[in-house]
Amino acid sequence: MAAQVSVIGYRDDRGLLLVPRTPFRAGEPVYRAQAATIKEVLGLKEDKRHGAYIGLLAGHDVPVYLDINTMVQKHVSILAKTGGGKSYMAGDLIEEFMKHHVTTVILDPHGEYASLTEKGKHAAGAERFRVEPRSYSELIQVFSPDTKVNSSARPLKFTLSNLDARDILSLTGSAKVRAHLTALRKALDLLRQATKDYTIRDVIRVLEREEDPQNASLIDELEYLSEVEIFAKEGTRIDELVVKGKTTIINLKGVPPDIQELVVNRLATAIFELRKVGRIPPLMVVVEEAHNFCPQVGQVASSKVFRTLASEGRKFGLGLVIITQRAAKVDKNVLSQCNTQVILKVTNPNDLKAIIASVEGLTTAMADEIQRLPIGVAICTGGGLQMPIIVEVRPRETKHGGESVKVIED
Ligand SMILES: Nc1ncnc2c1ncn2[C@@H]1O[C@H](COP(=O)(O)OP(=O)(O)OP(=O)(O)O)[C@@H](O)[C@H]1O
Ligand SMILES: [Mg+2]
Repeated sequence: MAAQVSVIGYRDDRGLLLVPRTPFRAGEPVYRAQAATIKEVLGLKEDKRHGAYIGLLAGHDVPVYLDINTMVQKHVSILAKTGGGKSYMAGDLIEEFMKHHVTTVILDPHGEYASLTEKGKHAAGAERFRVEPRSYSELIQVFSPDTKVNSSARPLKFTLSNLDARDILSLTGSAKVRAHLTALRKALDLLRQATKDYTIRDVIRVLEREEDPQNASLIDELEYLSEVEIFAKEGTRIDELVVKGKTTIINLKGVPPDIQELVVNRLATAIFELRKVGRIPPLMVVVEEAHNFCPQVGQVASSKVFRTLASEGRKFGLGLVIITQRAAKVDKNVLSQCNTQVILKVTNPNDLKAIIASVEGLTTAMADEIQRLPIGVAICTGGGLQMPIIVEVRPRETKHGGESVKVIED
């Protein structure tokens, strides 16, 4: 029988991990490591007070904890192909954040996270993880720009008066930004002289009064914006949205992509500004489908703010959890700042390349392993871990909202 061995190292008297200088002697006995030895050599600490319990070391009953302070200070990425288990894993992390009273905001494009309020059910074989199903409904609030689609959510609205003509035009997706800028600016100036609270309807009315045929397509675009109903005289207050120790889900289901980008941009910018001056508590911002909000190629409304958050968030206690199925398509400036990485199954060669380039200390064997990881197994690095390790992701306490949908029922 043959086996392959890779040397991790040993702990010296000072507790430092060292690699042996001399080769092993032929014929030496080999032992199966006990949990205590594994914990010591890998440096796994069971720090329940500061740690997020994410699962068990693969093949062992050794629990793995990621340090929550490290995650907030140095950001997290969760990377896998579609259906790889990213949202499931993110749910685990968010449950741990709630358990530790970490203030969290989730940008949820598909409305998958409201199920954190519902108690989960356990599959057979889940006992070894020692996780009890529970609900976190008392810690969760849900907001949405579209309360027609998401009827149980509280409305999320913005005040128009904070936006200038260019912001508004970038929202409309109008190709004729230049042509419309002057007309819109003039209309806004006029309104501002009269009042602080104006609506898109008011802007349209002013433009219509001009009776300039050139304004027709601008008016069309604004009509579209006014139908989406994200503006109101009284915007949602950020300190109502971000509440110490609570988790706020921004449910963007049913909201058109261009409006999602605007909403995310406005929110992220406001959260950063208020955090800088200490008006809201330190927090974690979870970004699902991050390739849409901070893409590597091209510019969307929220591109800039995520670069700023990734590079400066640390100083203000504002952490990001970046989730994507296309690692290669997320802004490198953002992804490279994520020091804690959770990697599930990835097969796309470009994404693999992007991931391998960004993980320190990943062995070639582990890099190969990424393509073969079964659902529910992750490679984790950072987060206080001393080296990349393979983890069997723990079952959820709450219901997972992103179940794959079957076309044909069982
Ligand atoms: N650790 C796990 N244990 C058991 N089931 C899991 C686990 N992780 C994922 N699954 C299951 O796999 C399926 C896909 O998981 P998930 O929704 O998290 O994928 P995803 O990576 O977020 O996909 P997408 O990119 O499409 O959003 C779900 O049905 C989920 O229940
Ligand atoms: Mg998902």
